[in-house]
Amino acid sequence: MNDLSSALAHFESHRTAHLNSLKELVRIPSVSFPGFDPAPLKKSAAAVSELLKKNGLTDVRILDTGGHPSVFAQWTEAAGKPTVLLYAHHDVQPTGREELWASPPFEPAERNGRLYGRGVSDDKGGAILHIAAIGSYLKSGGRLPVNVKVLIEGEEEVGSTNLNKLLLQHRELFSADIVVIADSENFDSGVPSLTASLRGIVTVNVEVRSLSSSVHSGTWGGPLPDPVIALSKMLASLLDDQGRPAIRGLFDKVRPLSTREKADLAGLPFNEDIYRKQSNIADGVQIIGGEESVYEKMWNLPSIAVNVIEASSRKQASNIVNDCVYARVGIRIVPDMDPSETLELLENHLLKHAPWGVKVKIEAENPSRWWKTDTNGKVFEAARAALEKGYEKKPAVVGAGGSIPFVQTITEALGGAPALLFGVGDPYSAAHSENESLLITDWEKACKSMIHLLSGLSLDGL
Ligand code: BES
Ligand code: MN
Repeated sequence: MNDLSSALAHFESHRTAHLNSLKELVRIPSVSFPGFDPAPLKKSAAAVSELLKKNGLTDVRILDTGGHPSVFAQWTEAAGKPTVLLYAHHDVQPTGREELWASPPFEPAERNGRLYGRGVSDDKGGAILHIAAIGSYLKSGGRLPVNVKVLIEGEEEVGSTNLNKLLLQHRELFSADIVVIADSENFDSGVPSLTASLRGIVTVNVEVRSLSSSVHSGTWGGPLPDPVIALSKMLASLLDDQGRPAIRGLFDKVRPLSTREKADLAGLPFNEDIYRKQSNIADGVQIIGGEESVYEKMWNLPSIAVNVIEASSRKQASNIVNDCVYARVGIRIVPDMDPSETLELLENHLLKHAPWGVKVKIEAENPSRWWKTDTNGKVFEAARAALEKGYEKKPAVVGAGGSIPFVQTITEALGGAPALLFGVGDPYSAAHSENESLLITDWEKACKSMIHLLSGLSLDGL
């Protein structure tokens, strides 16, 4: 048997053990958001580091980024072969409304071929995929077909600000010829997918205030500007009646799709019923935003979301005029939109639409840039072939609406190194929502693809 078939055989006989490692990792509530206990992030970094060691890596380090720890490991004994940097993240989103989970978010549970739990698909399943692929080689033939660096981040869900800084300070540590990111998702269940673009994101925290403290809405209501209504007007002005972003100038820099890209989009299967089911849109609610296809709207056009509105609470819903209201607003950005310019457009738009002299405070978060790759060349071909072997199905090449802040920074730092993006989730994975899940057979196929990919990237003269 050659190294590849030994590795594949090793994976076959150890997949339950790897799945159990995933479950162990999911039990650690590594929520990276501010205000959450940071201790579990240390625990999950330690757990990842132990798994890397258990799977045959000896140079394993916990990186103190200044924020939540990332884990780095390397194996560089494949003289003359390319170096591949494997990335995933071990931090997760908050649980959302716990009462909506069918089983507790941090107690992994299998139902109907899916594994449920926070982070199973985004992105602990991706982290274990890299670890399993490496272990399958090192624990069978004792060597890897390429040099490997592994980076499992602890702060992806909060924007990777610290990691991106660290990366620019320690370029040599992260130097590689190819980057493989396991943090996107499949176009559909069982359909292997290579992601060729990511949107970026700019986010603002908005506070609108009209009173120094809340007052009785009967006694005082009428002459006083209600800050919640003021904010509602501001937010409502973000979309036109068709549901298209209505910020003046927002589309000015959007790069038009090429004829080839348009044809690729048009070639993707679209079924409105399936789309409605996957996106969870309620019956009778319209798909908005104009004529373009949903894929173009999700992957190639900017979109606006209000993630949070907070003023008083349902529990304390008393008859008051609130003193202030808070909202968090995000715009997904696409080539060639500039993050700072977009921020400025958004801020100015909100300020301009604030009625009645209400006080508006806007704070921007660190933006994430968009990313787009060329889908030609040996490396991309190797990825197509590897996914086809792992899934026994031709891969789809897709865009993604989500953001991964590290991707643009690392590829740039490596002088335009090719990056390959795929993931273990599917449209039913409910990433960031309640009842996040992972189709276990797809995760296994993705692991096998990763084993094929390491061997496929063992190219000479890249
Ligand atoms: N894995 C997602 C991003 C993603 C989802 C890429 C689907 C491709 C397909 C990632 O963990 C994520 O959610 N990122 C954040 C980034 C933000 C905090 C800067 C996002 O997109 O909201
Ligand atoms: Mn992710």
